[in-house]
Amino acid sequence: MGADHIGLLTRRAMLSASAGAALLGFVRPSLSQASQSHRIAVARGQAPLTGPRRPATDVWAYDGVVPGPTLRVRQGEPVSIVVDNGLEEDTTVHWHGIRLPIGMDGVPGISQAPIRPGEKFVYEFTPPDAGTFWYHPHANTLEQLGRGLAGALIVEERSPVPVDRELVWTIMDWRLRPDGQIARGFGNMMEAAMSGRIGNTVTINGVVPTVEPVRAGERVRIRLINAALARIMALRFEGHHPVVVAIDGQPCDPHVPKHGRLLLGPAMRIDIVLDMQGEPSRRYEVIDDFDEELKYSLVELAYDAAPPMRMHPSEAPLRLPRNPLPTPDLKAAELRELVLQGGMMGMRGMGGMARMGRAAWAINSTSMTGDGHAGMPPLATLELGRSYVLRLRNDTAWWHPMHLHGHSFRVLSRNGAPVPHNQWADTVLVAPKETVDVAFVADNPGDWMLHCHVTDHQTAGLMATLRIE
Ligand code: C2O
Ligand code: CU
Ligand code: CU
Repeated sequence: MGADHIGLLTRRAMLSASAGAALLGFVRPSLSQASQSHRIAVARGQAPLTGPRRPATDVWAYDGVVPGPTLRVRQGEPVSIVVDNGLEEDTTVHWHGIRLPIGMDGVPGISQAPIRPGEKFVYEFTPPDAGTFWYHPHANTLEQLGRGLAGALIVEERSPVPVDRELVWTIMDWRLRPDGQIARGFGNMMEAAMSGRIGNTVTINGVVPTVEPVRAGERVRIRLINAALARIMALRFEGHHPVVVAIDGQPCDPHVPKHGRLLLGPAMRIDIVLDMQGEPSRRYEVIDDFDEELKYSLVELAYDAAPPMRMHPSEAPLRLPRNPLPTPDLKAAELRELVLQGGMMGMRGMGGMARMGRAAWAINSTSMTGDGHAGMPPLATLELGRSYVLRLRNDTAWWHPMHLHGHSFRVLSRNGAPVPHNQWADTVLVAPKETVDVAFVADNPGDWMLHCHVTDHQTAGLMATLRIE
């Protein structure tokens, strides 16, 4: 594709955006910052997670920052990302949620050889879908992700979305000692059989945030990314009505979630549009009350003193353009049941934990542990091009954000009740004892990981591969 063509596209997009902006009173159309080639270095670094006055934390970082740089690319155009491994151990990068060829999926031993210390790997793919995605290692994932290796990957829509401003909140959870350093003990089996390694310090874009400055009347798109190892969040925006416009990067029917609570398990993303309807100079809390007893204020929306930018909320449509996802044929779909097993039953000891050796968890009585490996037969073999319904039946007492690589699936039902708003996802949160049906077209050949994204659960057996051929 020639530069002229790109120029033309951008110019046309800008023209229509500025026409729209004039009509709707937007300050400025968002200009694309996308670039199709990137290079990131993986190495040890330091990050001022708790602010400039506290000691910096030793981290493992992409390009020396946590989260890693927000990579912006254009939908439908080839991307090339060089990854230099400056760690003392193997790594890989997984482009979470992107539908790409298996060889670019970043699972060591399955999709590629691990990137050895001092070596590099060039990832090349063409993202078919616009949306909010992220990247993280798939080697020694528990420790590498837990020490800071994660970043946002934004695939921009072909024409700008009519909002005044866009924010990316990459949310991470850390277990810090009093001296500000990351606590050891990754891969504690007790924890792995329960809720996983939940930390004590939650950061947005690498700092414990106090305020997010906003202006009355503006319309903001916020891309929420839960990049925590294990922490499930339920976010409430005091005094505001976030409209969910996309889940895991995939547009849905715009809707205000039940009780205004945004449930965000590890690896999940939600794009919201927020009309800043609060009063100038006031502050409004964003609260995570997933665990009612441990609820905390994540950040405050801090209004400046300026008069509202517009008196009534914008009437610009909130619906994002659909991505080119294949529609599963539900009548012809084959049903595969996946039973999630293991863990401790409730909080009362190991009584209910199945005897599975080093594994605490299983899917249909088999446990793949670690980061995914080629040494085990696939849990199921699916026929290329066919539609499937996966029935995720959670037989455990714990929540599991279940993730499938290389595909996005339609979320059909929960305990038999249809899921509204046309929701697609790559990671679906399954509550204790809940059954969730999802459907997808097995259109991407390869051995694809299917695992819980509570990283301790993944590495302790809640993982399998689906072979598509
Ligand atoms: Cu983000 Cu295998 O996962
Ligand atoms: Cu993934
Ligand atoms: Cu889990």
